[in-house]
Amino acid sequence: METLPIIALDFESKEKVDQFLDLFDEPLYVKVGMELFYQTGPELISDIKARGHRIFLDLKLHDIPNTVGKAMEGLAKLEVDMVNVHAAGGTVMMQRALEGLRKHNPNTKLIAVTQLTSTTEEMLHDEQNIQTSIEDAVLNYAQLAQQAQLDGVVCSPLEAELLTSHLGSDFLKVTPGIRPKDAQTNDQKRITTPEEAKTNGSTHIVVGRPITQSDNPVESYHKIKESWCN
Ligand code: C5P
Repeated sequence: METLPIIALDFESKEKVDQFLDLFDEPLYVKVGMELFYQTGPELISDIKARGHRIFLDLKLHDIPNTVGKAMEGLAKLEVDMVNVHAAGGTVMMQRALEGLRKHNPNTKLIAVTQLTSTTEEMLHDEQNIQTSIEDAVLNYAQLAQQAQLDGVVCSPLEAELLTSHLGSDFLKVTPGIRPKDAQTNDQKRITTPEEAKTNGSTHIVVGRPITQSDNPVESYHKIKESWCN
């Protein structure tokens, strides 16, 4: 069975999060990113967990291996469902992140960001000085993440098929950039519908504004959930 669509809680305060979560009377899977976490701290995580929701804590750690390992030891105690690091931090950093996490926690999934969906091929070539296609750069980072024993990666739904063919269907492909047919694209460039993401091999979809900015968030969520889960 597919996991629930992950709702990106991109709000600036706990009050806004509470107002949003109060609309729902069912367990959700939500994503807390750095905007919210840096302003509210770990307390918000316990509050959301106490409401019975699952959490992807999207902090994208990227530092020297020792620092990331120690930071993960701390995050492990929050007992969220999923956390992440940047694959660009390297294999040793990813291994140390996993060791740190596993010291206190056998269950939390650890995934790696490959290339941000905001990175264009021009930026890859001119700024990062990686002279390959985006797809090859993503595949390279995903392979390093798998070698480091991570559970999967964050990628575009358009890259999920390629990653499944090289890394298998059990390797998690967590994909933002999801827009239902009738929704605004906002600033997302490389997007698919929930149905296409599923066909491409995404194992989790992350959806923000089509739900959080909707006039009827509950109805929008259920439509997306049905098209993803059916
Ligand atoms: O509102 P929207 O559906 O575009 O939200 C997507 C969420 O996924 C945001 O929280 C965004 O920061 C995050 N994200 C992304 N692309 C990535 C990694 C994370 O859009 N590569």
